[in-house]
Amino acid sequence: MCEVTTALPSESEDGRPVIVAVCGKGGAGKTSVSAAVVRALLQDPAHRVLAIDADPAAGLASALGVEVTRTVDDVRSDLIRQVESGSGGDTKEMLSKLDYQVFEAISERGNLAFLAIGRPEKEGCYCQVNDLLRDIIATLAESFDAVVIDGEAGVEQINRRVMERVTHLLAVSDASARGITVAKAIRDVAQSAVRYERAGLVLNRIRGEEELSKLPIPEELECLGWLPEDEAVRKAGLEGGCLLDLPEGGFVDAVSGCLSRFGIHTATPAVAPEPTS
Ligand SMILES: Nc1ncnc2c1ncn2[C@@H]1O[C@H](COP(=O)(O)OP(=O)(O)OP(=O)(O)O)[C@@H](O)[C@H]1O
Ligand SMILES: [Mg+2]
Repeated sequence: MCEVTTALPSESEDGRPVIVAVCGKGGAGKTSVSAAVVRALLQDPAHRVLAIDADPAAGLASALGVEVTRTVDDVRSDLIRQVESGSGGDTKEMLSKLDYQVFEAISERGNLAFLAIGRPEKEGCYCQVNDLLRDIIATLAESFDAVVIDGEAGVEQINRRVMERVTHLLAVSDASARGITVAKAIRDVAQSAVRYERAGLVLNRIRGEEELSKLPIPEELECLGWLPEDEAVRKAGLEGGCLLDLPEGGFVDAVSGCLSRFGIHTATPAVAPEPTS
């Protein structure tokens, strides 16, 4: 059954940035939800938000109207190429320049910064480079108020390729049994493999309370709420439009409502459909 829990304070417990990782079955709405979470967090102009696209399919950039010229994987591949060909000079020196190169890959617009991770790693063990890049991203995250990561599907990949620490694990599912099973599996894996403070489920493209009440929601997953089918989201998906321009109401307000139940309070008052038990 879907239970509403009380909200926690808006910051993570240690006062560090809130890091929201959005995961779920393919096509469940991860990118749309990530973009709406970013939109909600950007409402406060003093709030600096870092959006990270950790999906190689790179949908978040267009959902946020950002152009990607370079990804973290481009930085990584260039470095490996240089090391392997011996063309870049001293390896230590090259590694020391890695953080500048990651910073250069960031696109900024107002209080939004955007970083794309790129494709999964090539074969071969480049653990030192991978670990270093992960450390650089984690250090970078510290200078923001909030970080939103649009994940590929599971949280292990975020943990391995982007950051070890996540504060809020947000699983998105549609009304399908498969979507809910994947969301539960993500939470189960996260429990043993990832450091996170809270995990919650958001149900997307739901027709109403009646449909919600029939869904087999696992008890172990805190249900944060449901999002309606939204014409503006559908249109933006079809046309590759920017979701930051979504009108208030419907999907946007429902996402804000889910965030506030997750203990993340945004500047816009949330009027969202509440899940009932
Ligand atoms: N609530 C909604 N109402 C209408 N359309 C939606 C809604 N949520 C998602 N969509 C549409 O469904 C499609 C898939 O959504 P989205 O890209 O957000 O999912 P995803 O989980 O990121 O997919 P992928 O696994 O391919 O990255 C998009 O075309 C999007 O516009
Ligand atoms: Mg996506």
